[in-house]
Amino acid sequence: MSTLRRKFVCQKCGFESIQWLGKCPNCSSWNSFAEEIESKQKLKSSRSKLENSRLVNLKSIDKTIDHSNLRFNTGFDEFDRVLGGGVIQGSVVLIAGDPGIGKSTLLLQVVSNLNEKVIYVTGEESIEQIKFRSTRLKIKNENLFILQETNLNNILHIIERENPKVVVIDSIQTIYNDLLEGAPGTIGQIRECTTYLMNLAKKENIAIFIIGHITKDGLIAGPKALEHIVDTVLQFSGEKNYSFRILRAIKNRFGSTNEIGIFEMHTDGLKEVANPSQVFLSEREYGASGTVVTPIIEGTRPILVEVQALVTPSNFGMPQRVTTGFDYRRLSILLAVLEKRLNYKLSQHNVFLNIAGGVEIDEPSADLAVCAAIVSSIKDIPADSLTCMVGEVGLSGEIRSVSNLETRIMEAEKLGFKKTIIPSQVLRSIVSKSKIEIVQCKNLTDAIKEILE
Ligand SMILES: Nc1ncnc2c1ncn2[C@@H]1O[C@H](COP(=O)(O)OP(=O)(O)OP(=O)(O)O)[C@@H](O)[C@H]1O
Ligand SMILES: [Mg+2]
Repeated sequence: MSTLRRKFVCQKCGFESIQWLGKCPNCSSWNSFAEEIESKQKLKSSRSKLENSRLVNLKSIDKTIDHSNLRFNTGFDEFDRVLGGGVIQGSVVLIAGDPGIGKSTLLLQVVSNLNEKVIYVTGEESIEQIKFRSTRLKIKNENLFILQETNLNNILHIIERENPKVVVIDSIQTIYNDLLEGAPGTIGQIRECTTYLMNLAKKENIAIFIIGHITKDGLIAGPKALEHIVDTVLQFSGEKNYSFRILRAIKNRFGSTNEIGIFEMHTDGLKEVANPSQVFLSEREYGASGTVVTPIIEGTRPILVEVQALVTPSNFGMPQRVTTGFDYRRLSILLAVLEKRLNYKLSQHNVFLNIAGGVEIDEPSADLAVCAAIVSSIKDIPADSLTCMVGEVGLSGEIRSVSNLETRIMEAEKLGFKKTIIPSQVLRSIVSKSKIEIVQCKNLTDAIKEILE
């Protein structure tokens, strides 16, 4: 008698079926069924294992764990910082990104400096291709072993036998469990394989990095299912036309999700960008209207970015609003404020807004720079190139305070800006020593006058 039972489960509502269905009869969602296996033997015997489960007093755990040994550094500072200060032993990290963005390159470089045994499982490329890449990246790690394998059981077996400290799975979409009938890359396979790898990581105390491709609609394949299983999800992204790559933590059980790491792709691999502001401002066009620089905070770091606006007359009834790297609804609010409080007829203009360098701004501190860039474009007057501005804009056109203002001002000064326009909030004394001219403004009209004239 077979002890395995195959079933298909709707990932949205949990409805079970013995065959795959395109539409769930229970919750009516499409394409939501994933294959799962259930071991009857396991279910029956699970009660008998109860004596292995025990209660542990939290206080006593603290005494037995050596916290300093929980994390280790990879020697790749930007990567370690995004993870919250290094890799946690026994954790599973998912690195997701578009095809060809540099995921394999990043992980090969990350493991290249480790002194302990690393197994790099490749399901996509041949051993020769990995060698070719590692030669290009000048990697000479004697502890790095390559395994060309896609069968999950073989991979688990080898990991258990070899006992490495770090494992890289490139990529999860190519790995399969032969107990499931689904092809590699299906939701059921991906979830099953990740769960096994997660259990192994915890049991053997191995850090496992899993590479995952992003599907066409931007989801990490296996709609969100993977994100819940793993400890940390990192998104590796970048603009095709730029050599910058941004590593961002989307979920982190062991650190902040605000940190970003910035890299630049070169022939010999990814290089860390220690001073991102300089890079993001390097292609600035001086003397052009519609551009204003603002200091934003990414994680704990200040970064100066360039806000670019282009305002053109609209000949049709519905003017266009297009944004890249800035919230669309926030732009609509700011346009309404400019129209109502400052009398700019923006309802008859197309507005295109771009944050240069592929950066995404998700804090209101860039409001002031966005408004100033729009006014600069509409009037066709260039903003002063050595002035930057920061502040949240309220609905009545007032400028509201922002967090970490001193850090932002210091960064602007470091990059050679002569003047900064800020909200009229109380400043800490460290700023009084700075050479940069600080202008505090209460409302939008004054702030725009200050930078355009
Ligand atoms: N000789 C080279 N010089 C400069 N950059 C290169 C060179 N070869 C590859 N690259 C860069 O590396 C990128 C591909 O890196 P990699 O194979 O690590 O990406 P990936 O995300 O793992 O791709 P895939 O989705 O195919 O697995 C290319 O897009 C390119 O930017
Ligand atoms: Mg790859």
